[in-house]
Amino acid sequence: MKKIYIGFVMCLLMLGLVYCKEDANMKDTFAVIHSRKSVRSFTGAAVSKNDLDKIIKAGMAAPTAVNMQPWSFIVITDRKKLDTLAEGLPNAKMLFKAGAAIIICTEPDKAFNKSKDFAIIDASLAGENILLSIETLGLGGVWTAAYPYADRMKHVRSVLNIPQEVIPLNVIPVGVPTGEDKPKVKYNKEKIHWEQW
Ligand SMILES: Cc1cc2nc3c(=O)[nH]c(=O)nc-3n(C[C@H](O)[C@H](O)[C@H](O)COP(=O)(O)O)c2cc1C
Repeated sequence: MKKIYIGFVMCLLMLGLVYCKEDANMKDTFAVIHSRKSVRSFTGAAVSKNDLDKIIKAGMAAPTAVNMQPWSFIVITDRKKLDTLAEGLPNAKMLFKAGAAIIICTEPDKAFNKSKDFAIIDASLAGENILLSIETLGLGGVWTAAYPYADRMKHVRSVLNIPQEVIPLNVIPVGVPTGEDKPKVKYNKEKIHWEQW
């Protein structure tokens, strides 16, 4: 009986240690917000499906107008597809070294009032959640614009078979950062208006 009890206590302790270790690797929200930066230099290492799942789940936790969630997310880990995307995107050459990419798509037809504006705003909020989650996991990412550039959206649509009514908002290369990219200090008191403009 005593042995069973000791075994049970040991199991609880080990579980506690696993959770503590996970917590120790997690940054607090403000630390994440202030350490997030656009990462354009990647080591070339892979990104796990588990991490990508967490990142997308966080994206879907973002607020949307009337909770319409007009978004979809395309996750790419296939090397050939990442390279093909990079070839047609002058602004996203870092894809060649990224381990994965997330393409945030949005559909005006599925947004509140069928509004393109709401579709873009809603999906952009998911984008920030995604960028912050990438930082939280110790990975790097950068928003590269597809929308509003017709040529870039055309390329992304054709490589990924995206229907015409769906807007590919961006391509977010995700990877293991080399450490070269640093956060910028943007705090500017002059941009704040207390009580009135
Ligand atoms: C709408 C939008 C479009 C962007 N497009 C690109 C892009 O095409 N290529 C790129 O390298 N970075 C792009 N960026 C990243 C910005 O250049 C970057 O966020 C900005 O310079 C501030 O740096 P930080 O993200 O490190 O704070 C884009 C960011 C936003 C929000």
